[in-house]
Amino acid sequence: MEVPKPKCLEHPINVPTKLLMGPGPVNMPLRVHNAMMKPMLGHLHPEFTQVMDEVKEGLKYIFQTTAEVVCCVSGTGHAGMEATMCNLLEPNDVILIAQNGIWGERAADMARRHDADVRLIKKPPGDVCSLNELESALLKHRPAVLFLVQGESSTGALQPLEGVGALCRKHGVLLAVDTVASLGGVPFFMDSWEIDVVYTGSQKVISAPPSVAPIAFNDRAMEKVRTRKTPIRSFYLDITWLANYWGCDGLPRKYHHTGPVSSVYALREALSMVSEEGLHALWSRHSSCAQRLYSGLEALGLRLFIADPAKRTPTVTTICIPEGVDWMKVTKYFMSKYQVEVSGGLGPTAGKVWRIGLMGYNCIPENVDKVLKIMKEALANEPLLKSNL
Ligand SMILES: Cc1ncc(COP(=O)(O)O)c(C=O)c1O
Repeated sequence: MEVPKPKCLEHPINVPTKLLMGPGPVNMPLRVHNAMMKPMLGHLHPEFTQVMDEVKEGLKYIFQTTAEVVCCVSGTGHAGMEATMCNLLEPNDVILIAQNGIWGERAADMARRHDADVRLIKKPPGDVCSLNELESALLKHRPAVLFLVQGESSTGALQPLEGVGALCRKHGVLLAVDTVASLGGVPFFMDSWEIDVVYTGSQKVISAPPSVAPIAFNDRAMEKVRTRKTPIRSFYLDITWLANYWGCDGLPRKYHHTGPVSSVYALREALSMVSEEGLHALWSRHSSCAQRLYSGLEALGLRLFIADPAKRTPTVTTICIPEGVDWMKVTKYFMSKYQVEVSGGLGPTAGKVWRIGLMGYNCIPENVDKVLKIMKEALANEPLLKSNL
């Protein structure tokens, strides 16, 4: 039997324009779209490796590092997380993971798959760890690695990082940080905060398409990789191969895999926009838009899930669903009437909050005002929504 031609491919692709105000991906600037239309190059052609080198410079800037191994995993944020685990962990290594939302849970799941001995510091969703709590846990568990998530997009919490690296050095621990939902939206200094491994995603504040996960390993982290007693269990995510393909080890580049050429062009363009704006301006744009959102939501009588403003990441705001309101009807109202995405909760916040993203290209006062206007309208219509949607 022959499989017939699919009927659905006979009509043009249907991709509506939506305003993505959830926790990512976000809309992309035209410049980034246009970069993706540049001609295809071979993944080892000198013009392409030049673009990769420019991406590395942009990443060193956004990570605030002079580490040599700064590159991308071809995959989304999860691939960055998996690369962190598979390169840093050997069987029975103790990893301490702060768990205050879904990303700590995912990290623990991945670490267990690498046969690590996973220890948790559990915090209620929305809360973060203090330096004292981290130090007591380091003393209790004596881990090889501490893993933290800077911006917990399932709860909206921002984990403070200053001082954690120094604690980790004091206790001989490597510090790995997930910045998928926060990098570019809040200050981050890999070198001065003594962070050993960091990764992020391309589709959040950076405003490029999902597909590449920027990642950096400093010398301490690379030393751990070099002195492993067991091989890295993933070929594709092996940082020594990735570092070679990205020209980070001073050796001739070898074929490891075919890099996602058009996505790397897009990332190059998005990073050049970050650099033109400057990190300080980018951080303050996120903070001022978030303040505008918080006041607008409170003026509507809504309560933010995280009471302490210092514990909120400006990139993802979580709002408690008022008693008796059907959260899904509200998100549907946003989408069906205005083609605007806002999201419900995830993991421990599912059914409890809405999540509004303010990231990169979409983080402008006009979008904040639009979301507030629709929210007001949706809530005013809620009894109607309840019966009709
Ligand atoms: C904090 C955090 N880590 C990891 C991820 C996973 O990223 P991806 O969906 O790009 O694989 C996300 C995605 O939202 C995230 O917010």
